[in-house]
Amino acid sequence: MLPLVLESVTFEVAGRRIIDRVDATFTHGTRTVILGPNGAGKSVLLRLCHGLLIPSEGAVRWGRGDDSIARQAMVFQRPVLLRRSALRNLTHALALRRVPRRERLARARAALDTVGLASVAERSARVLSGGEQQRLALARARAVEPAVLFLDEPTANLDPAASREVESVIQDIHEAGTKIIMTTHNLGQARRLGDEVLFLARGRLVERAGIDDFFRHPSSSEAVAFIRGELPWH
Ligand SMILES: Nc1ncnc2c1ncn2[C@@H]1O[C@H](COP(=O)(O)OP(=O)(O)O)[C@@H](O)[C@H]1O
Ligand SMILES: [Mg+2]
Repeated sequence: MLPLVLESVTFEVAGRRIIDRVDATFTHGTRTVILGPNGAGKSVLLRLCHGLLIPSEGAVRWGRGDDSIARQAMVFQRPVLLRRSALRNLTHALALRRVPRRERLARARAALDTVGLASVAERSARVLSGGEQQRLALARARAVEPAVLFLDEPTANLDPAASREVESVIQDIHEAGTKIIMTTHNLGQARRLGDEVLFLARGRLVERAGIDDFFRHPSSSEAVAFIRGELPWH
């Protein structure tokens, strides 16, 4: 279903341009990080890619097949979990994707195992720690074997140790063949997890580069300032 192509994608709310003519192509095999300061439009851009928002102008196109939505998954900053056990959250997601009933339990348990949550399978998802909840959300995304996984600041609410665990799960999902497209405002995370960077500032894609090039030779003044940690409104 890849590449995913954005053609002059623009998004306006009440006359205000939040995403401004973004052109981009996302291909298989690389981990893409969408980096930028708070309010740059990262979440909105990710939602446009995933089809949760419709561009005001321009187009979001997928390479092949008409089953695109079924092959995408998204993980949000705050995991959206059902008031049921960790295991039931997974079997429910598999049921929605029409996985045969006889396969669901085994697949759900295998998915929990891959994120280190086998021991809390029967526990209510709502009482898990923040890091465990986010790993459960990742297990759920992974269980449906998506071609593309969108992640919107998946560690923004987590402490450093829980963040590293989540990063390691994201890396596993990448290695299993899923295309990763992730937003972050965290430079260290971009370095650890990114192959390429799309740098967004005030709704515009101002820079796109391989991860090392981006940090060594940022070409826009916005990226230079962001890397230096300057406040974006100065
Ligand atoms: N549904 C919406 N309606 C109006 N404004 C929005 C909406 N969603 C986001 N915005 C605005 O668009 C800008 C970009 O938001 P967002 O994509 O959340 O930024 P980021 O994720 O980079 O921090 C912000 O100024 C935000 O207030
Ligand atoms: Mg955001």
